[in-house]
Amino acid sequence: LTKGCATAPALGFPTIYPNTDDKITLPEGFEHGVVIRWGDALDGGENLDWNRIHQTVTEADVQRQQQCFGYNCDFVGYQTTPDGKHLLVVNHEYTNPELMFQTVGDRPNQWQAALQREAHGLSIVEIAKNTKGGWQYVKGSPYNRRITGSSLCEISGPAKGHPLLKTAAEPTGTRVNGTLNNCSAGKTPWGTVLTCEENFHTYFGGSDSNLTGMVKELHKRYDIPNERADRYGFYLYEDRFNIEKEPQEAFRFGWVVEVDPLSPDRAPIKRTALGRFRHEAATTVIAPDGRVVVYMGDDERFEYAYKFVTKGKYQANDRAANLNLLDEGELYVARFNDDLTGEWRAIARVEGSTITPNPNLPTAFQQDPALCFIYTRAAADALGATKMDRPEDFEWNPVTKSVWLALTYNEKRKAQATDGANPRPENVMGHVIEIIEQGNNPTALQFQWRLPLLCGDPTASEQNRQLVLYGAPTNGEVPPISAPDNLTFDRAGNVWIATDGNPGSERLGKNDGVYVLNPFRRELKMFLSGVPGCEICGPEFSSDYQTFFCAIQHPGEGAKSTADLPTRWPYGEEVVVPRPAVIAVWRRDGREVSA
Ligand code: FEO
Ligand code: CA
Ligand code: CA
Ligand code: CA
Repeated sequence: LTKGCATAPALGFPTIYPNTDDKITLPEGFEHGVVIRWGDALDGGENLDWNRIHQTVTEADVQRQQQCFGYNCDFVGYQTTPDGKHLLVVNHEYTNPELMFQTVGDRPNQWQAALQREAHGLSIVEIAKNTKGGWQYVKGSPYNRRITGSSLCEISGPAKGHPLLKTAAEPTGTRVNGTLNNCSAGKTPWGTVLTCEENFHTYFGGSDSNLTGMVKELHKRYDIPNERADRYGFYLYEDRFNIEKEPQEAFRFGWVVEVDPLSPDRAPIKRTALGRFRHEAATTVIAPDGRVVVYMGDDERFEYAYKFVTKGKYQANDRAANLNLLDEGELYVARFNDDLTGEWRAIARVEGSTITPNPNLPTAFQQDPALCFIYTRAAADALGATKMDRPEDFEWNPVTKSVWLALTYNEKRKAQATDGANPRPENVMGHVIEIIEQGNNPTALQFQWRLPLLCGDPTASEQNRQLVLYGAPTNGEVPPISAPDNLTFDRAGNVWIATDGNPGSERLGKNDGVYVLNPFRRELKMFLSGVPGCEICGPEFSSDYQTFFCAIQHPGEGAKSTADLPTRWPYGEEVVVPRPAVIAVWRRDGREVSA
């Protein structure tokens, strides 16, 4: 195991502390600027008139949203193109009708629903450095692209064409309109992005009383129908989201979706070999033998941590050879033992058109092996996987050569149901687990694990709310932290943690932020505090590490309507509604952010 190392460089900035200010707070010496906001036009056309949309949405506004930056930005991925341009790939996870529209009532009207659908998905946008040291987006760049809740996507891998994926409107089970609830994501070594469909169940409404058999059982395990469908209203106007009218559309969601930013005409591809669950993120690492390993979490209380190992090997000099690597390989789920060991239990292997399920799985999976990928949660249940406290980002740290998993919180865990890896009853603060694969090899089937961070407040008296670093209690100089969600790493291997959930009074009652854990010196600092009601997502560095990017998602969330807003961030213009946006952060003196 990596030992603490007191000679590693300390974090080069003084910590800030959580606050409730209506502004972005950074340590002394840093600046920030907005890169792109909800409604900014990606094509050469007009920006979305979000001020008018607040009053009345028309069909023309829905069409404009298809070309404008979407809502609730989550994942942020930076990459450069072969011709030297800079791109961001940004997910648009969900929408907040109560913050977008003045009058939404119990259910959105037809155009409010359609505008929300088109504000979902993701954006690919070219950015360029500006004279202030920050970045702005390039309006009308040929790289700019919107993928929305209605864009045509392909389905590939073991569930392609399966009877459960066929619908009345699309009887081949090989294509689907839209990707939804794209939360976090990951970048592949071949320059594509794996965007993840997380709370896909929240779009499906209607009654399940006429459903039977496997369809009913699957929907129950994935919380379909779901009461939150009324908030978006899709099912009121599109039969495919109404399970009474189309019981099988939901099987075409809940996947990892591969998008190629370098091929604007190529449809996104739902990679079914990576399993179907509430996918938070999918992050990759190349193993020593060239196979690619994808780490994935199912973000729900008492759900699981997974990985997928490709059959084929990454070809550094042949991009085309990598583009279908994710269709063949083996899917595993994690079992954590209380003695700090753990193992990866195989669910199924797919090679060509042959699927080989784990022989210990129940008969239903042996008879219809594709179920391992469509009904992945039940396969994991049967294999004795460890039920976790909501797995969020799960990512290989190239410096520590270990895998870091954020477990955001789980207030429903009872004392009698705690285990070594999820040790706190009523875990309202969350924790971070580090997995050290045997031989530091990501294809290993055995691992060791430890708990670098139990989130909380150093001054709290209740055990489940105390901040503990590497097993040691902390003092009041360490900033309180709760609800760890997205992760990234700087050049030195420090762990950057963005949080989601602090405004809740059951946690810190402060704005969400970005923290940095130095795993060598075992110190924790806070780097950024957001504005009221927002969560911070997609922490990401530019390749020179001089810029830190993140998303300010749903500023003002928690307000019942726009009459009652705690913030109108990012302000400017005639502000009526707050606007989710991506920001860039840099040092005034131009040095690396983490220097
Ligand atoms: Fe969309 Fe698990 O956060
Ligand atoms: Ca998340
Ligand atoms: Ca990440
Ligand atoms: Ca979140």
